[in-house]
Amino acid sequence: MNKNRLKHLAIIMDGNGRWAEKHGYKRTKGHERGAEVTREITVFCANHPTIETVTHYAFSTENWKRPKLEVEYLMKLLDRYLKKELKTYQEENIRFMAIGDISAFSRKLQERISLTTELTKENTRLIQILALNYGGRDEIVRAANRVIEGGGKITEESLGAALDTPYQDIDLLVRTSGEQRLSNYLLWQLSYSEFAFTPTLWPDFTTDELASIIGDFEKRKRRFGGV
Ligand code: IPE
Ligand code: IPE
Ligand code: MG
Repeated sequence: MNKNRLKHLAIIMDGNGRWAEKHGYKRTKGHERGAEVTREITVFCANHPTIETVTHYAFSTENWKRPKLEVEYLMKLLDRYLKKELKTYQEENIRFMAIGDISAFSRKLQERISLTTELTKENTRLIQILALNYGGRDEIVRAANRVIEGGGKITEESLGAALDTPYQDIDLLVRTSGEQRLSNYLLWQLSYSEFAFTPTLWPDFTTDELASIIGDFEKRKRRFGGV
């Protein structure tokens, strides 16, 4: 039997807050630990033989509803992460990209995102996409407006090409923390993806567990509507 080839992996990194509560820490500590796991998983993906792109959900269009201090902390953490991990991107030959409406972020953070994108654009081993102020519905609406503004007609091809993501089809979606929902993630790109839900909280997620999830994915039967 031929194994499925995992090229594009999408991850909903969930459970940072519950991990912190469980250990008696503030929620921010969970995000800090979660960012380290993001780096480890990204490096694993760069070294994986078939993965070309990993798309992480880092901040949703709905996450602005959180307490102001938590939102501010997440913005600072993102800036710090991109600054610190530039070394990792270059050493591991990883290209960084962002999707979502980053125009809502501070100018400083927007500059950090553009700079990291620019400095890593020649890297070829993996594309790491961070979904930032990202919502699947928002992405589709913005794409539809791009097509209309360009004078085009909406088709699956024109709309698909106007989305934020360069690699649209996702092979496997992993969500940690036990929740079994999409929370407005990549609605268009997930139409034929395989799903894997694990109760593990994101700060406890390991490359071993990801390897085992991928092993299971490779054995699944994907039919895409055929027989
Ligand atoms: C995921 O962890 C990180 C973000 C959404 C930024 P959560 O912060 O959602 O953690 P829980 O779901 O409250 O445990
Ligand atoms: C989804 O997690 C968003 C990110 C992981 C960035 P949430 O924790 O925000 O999702 P809900 O609220 O449980 O659906
Ligand atoms: Mg959550």
